[in-house]
Amino acid sequence: MRQFDAFLLPRFTLGGYNSANLIRQRISNPMKTIFEVNNLELTLERFPCSNDENLQAWDSADQYLLEYIEQLKLEPANVLIINDTFGALVCGLNQHNIIAQSDSFIAKQAYQYNLEANHLTPSFKHISDLSQVDVNIDLVVFKLPKSNSMLIEQLRQLSNIVSPTTQVIAAAKAKDIHSSTLKLFDKHLGSTTTSLAKKKSRLIFCQPGNKHTGRNLAPDLHTWSTSSPALTISNLPGVFANSSLDLGAQLMLENIPSNIGDSTVIDLGCGNGVLGLAVAKNNPQAQVTFTDESYMAVESSRLNVSNNISDPQRCNFLWNDCLTDIEFDSADWIICNPPFHQLQTITDHIAWQMFNDAYRVLNKGGKIRIVGNRHLGYHIKLQRIFDNCITVASNGKFVILESTRL
Ligand SMILES: C[S@@+](CC[C@H](N)C(=O)[O-])C[C@H]1O[C@@H](n2cnc3c(N)ncnc32)[C@H](O)[C@@H]1O
Repeated sequence: MRQFDAFLLPRFTLGGYNSANLIRQRISNPMKTIFEVNNLELTLERFPCSNDENLQAWDSADQYLLEYIEQLKLEPANVLIINDTFGALVCGLNQHNIIAQSDSFIAKQAYQYNLEANHLTPSFKHISDLSQVDVNIDLVVFKLPKSNSMLIEQLRQLSNIVSPTTQVIAAAKAKDIHSSTLKLFDKHLGSTTTSLAKKKSRLIFCQPGNKHTGRNLAPDLHTWSTSSPALTISNLPGVFANSSLDLGAQLMLENIPSNIGDSTVIDLGCGNGVLGLAVAKNNPQAQVTFTDESYMAVESSRLNVSNNISDPQRCNFLWNDCLTDIEFDSADWIICNPPFHQLQTITDHIAWQMFNDAYRVLNKGGKIRIVGNRHLGYHIKLQRIFDNCITVASNGKFVILESTRL
C-alpha cells in the first residue's frame, strides 16, 4: 500500500508560492526563523522546508551586509540586490526601492513569502536577468554566486548598469573570496578592496569606473557534444554540467525511453536539457516539456532545442519549483536526474518533492525514469510513493530506476 505522510500532502498554490512546502514546514520546524539585525526582528523561512535545525534562511554575510549598509544612513535609494538566497536582504532593506535579481525560482518564491510574512510592502520588483534593470541604481548589494562563470557573467552585466556614482558592496564567506575574485571585480567594474572578516564572512567594496561593455553583449557559452544521440549542448553560465556531460546523465542517455509515440514527456530538473533532447531526438512525435528552477537552465534548454531539433514547436519550457504549476494527470513520461544538494547543503528533500510531484502529474500508466548515485537509495522513495520500482540499468556508480503510476 502507498503510505501517505507529510511529503504526500496535496499540492495547491497560495499567492504563487508552494503552500505544500509551507504546510510541511508548519508541521515540525525546528529551524531558527527569527533574524535580529539593526533594529529589525524578521521572521524568515527557508524554501523548501527542512527539518534540519542547523539550517536557516540567512547567513553571516547577509548580517554583515545589512549592518554595514545601516551605518551608511542612506536616504531611500534604488537598490539592486543580486543572488539573495531567501529574502534576508530584500526584507532587511525594505525602506528602499528594491530590484532583486535571482536565477532561482525558489528564491523568488521565498522573497514574496518572507515579505508578506513580515508585513513589508516595499517598492519591490523581481527580475530573472540583469538585462531587465531599467532604472539608475544607487547601491548594488551582491551575494557572490556559487559558480565562477555566473560571477563573471553578473559582473559583465553589472558593468552596463553601474556608473561612477553607484556603490557596489558584495559579500560571501571569507573562504570563498580569493585574490582572483577581487581581480574579476577590478577588471569588470573598477577599483576593489575588502573588509576584515566577521563571523567568517567578508565584504567587497568596489568603486565602478566607466567600463561599459555594451548592453547586447552575449553571455559566454560552454559547448560540448554527445555522440548517441548526436547533440551539441551549450550551457549558459552557472548551469549544471557546464563543461561536460554528467556521468549519471551519460547512463541515462544509454537508456532513454524509445517507441513512445506522441507521449507527453517532462524533463524534470532539465539543466541544459540534454535528457529531454535525447527523448525528442529518439521519439520524433513526442511532446517534451523542459522545466527547472534555474532560469539559466531553462534558457539553455530553449537554446539547445532550437539548435538540435528541427520542429521545436513540440517543446515547451517552464521556470518552476519541481512540478508545482503542472496539472494533475497530464504527462505520460517523466525523466529526471535529481539534484542532491541545495546551495551548499546536501539534501534529499528536492528528490522527494520531485517524486511526489511526479506521482501527481503522471497519467495512470505513466512512468518516471530516474538516474541516481547507487548509494542515494532512491528506490526506497520510489517504492514508497508508487508502490513499484524496477531497475532498468546500472553501472558501478549509478542506477536507472523506473516506477509506474498504477
Ligand atoms: C543533477 S542536475 C541535472 C541536470 C540535467 N537534467 C542533466 O542530467 O544534466 C539537477 C537539476 O535540477 C535543478 N533543480 C534543483 N532544484 C530544483 C527544483 N526545486 N525544481 C526544479 N529543478 C530543480 C537544478 O537546477 C539542476 O539543473
